[in-house]
Amino acid sequence: MKVLIAERISDAGLDELKKETDVEVRLGLKREKLLEIIKDFDALIVRSEIKVDSELMEAAPNLKVVGRAGNGIDNIDLKEATRRGIIVVNTPDSNAISAAEHTIGLIIAIARNIPQAAHAVKSQDFHRNKYKGVELYGKTLGIIGLGRIGSLVAKRMKAFEMEVIAYDPYISSEIFDEIGVKKAETLEDLLRNSDIITIHTPKTRETVGMIGEKELAITKKGVRIVNCARGGLINERALCEYLKSGHVAAAAIDVLEKEPSYEGDNTGFYNPLIELPNVVITPHLGASTVEAQNNVGITVAREVLSALKGQFTSNA
Ligand code: MLT
Repeated sequence: MKVLIAERISDAGLDELKKETDVEVRLGLKREKLLEIIKDFDALIVRSEIKVDSELMEAAPNLKVVGRAGNGIDNIDLKEATRRGIIVVNTPDSNAISAAEHTIGLIIAIARNIPQAAHAVKSQDFHRNKYKGVELYGKTLGIIGLGRIGSLVAKRMKAFEMEVIAYDPYISSEIFDEIGVKKAETLEDLLRNSDIITIHTPKTRETVGMIGEKELAITKKGVRIVNCARGGLINERALCEYLKSGHVAAAAIDVLEKEPSYEGDNTGFYNPLIELPNVVITPHLGASTVEAQNNVGITVAREVLSALKGQFTSNA
């Protein structure tokens, strides 16, 4: 069996695969090249960059399994995979803690202007007045999506003595009570009452653009916003306008509507959010820790091997 690793996974994961399959690692492939070589492979492993769509599946007559090294599966056309009998496996639990911790890092970073201030000092500027921040204590954190990552963020942020509220129509009141989070009955409720908003929903037809002009208009003046989930959940153009006017005091963004390549050529990459002084952007780093990538690599390898052998897979 031949496995194509088209996006980086840990050595631990590669070792698992190499014990039983013929592994080829080809990172940063141009789309045309991927379309050309995929015909030879039985399994494909990707992270979040490569679109596994009908065009790619059409070019892959031998493909039996797609392993998504991570949580979100918005880059994979599940319907098309199902139609073609291709099994899709992912690793939803393996990187949730890292994503939650990155979110918390970003919340603190924008509350205290840490990246901008640190950057200023490196440019010989020690004028601290420009970087006065706000405390988290006593403020309201609004979490949109109380699933795996949202609930980890909630539990941890309560230690800061923040009031934590969440909006998630798919989570029962018992779970809200268990986590100790106040339930916002509507998204509007959450938007009106939060000092900091963080979003943790998958990217689906329902959630794309869920925070746009209309939603930003009802947030508190001076709100801070974090997106460590998926680009496109927040309308970037609207967010830019609200950041420029100062209505949104700051934003921390780990994911963009259109992300450049993680391994290949990035020349020409531009996003207007980058230019705003009250925005902190990281390059889709939520899951990028040693621990998460080890977990993800090993889990995706085992899931792909199980699927290739026709055995039970726990994540599909
Ligand atoms: C995920 O959905 O788990 C992450 O976005 C994966 C990644 O970092 O590529």
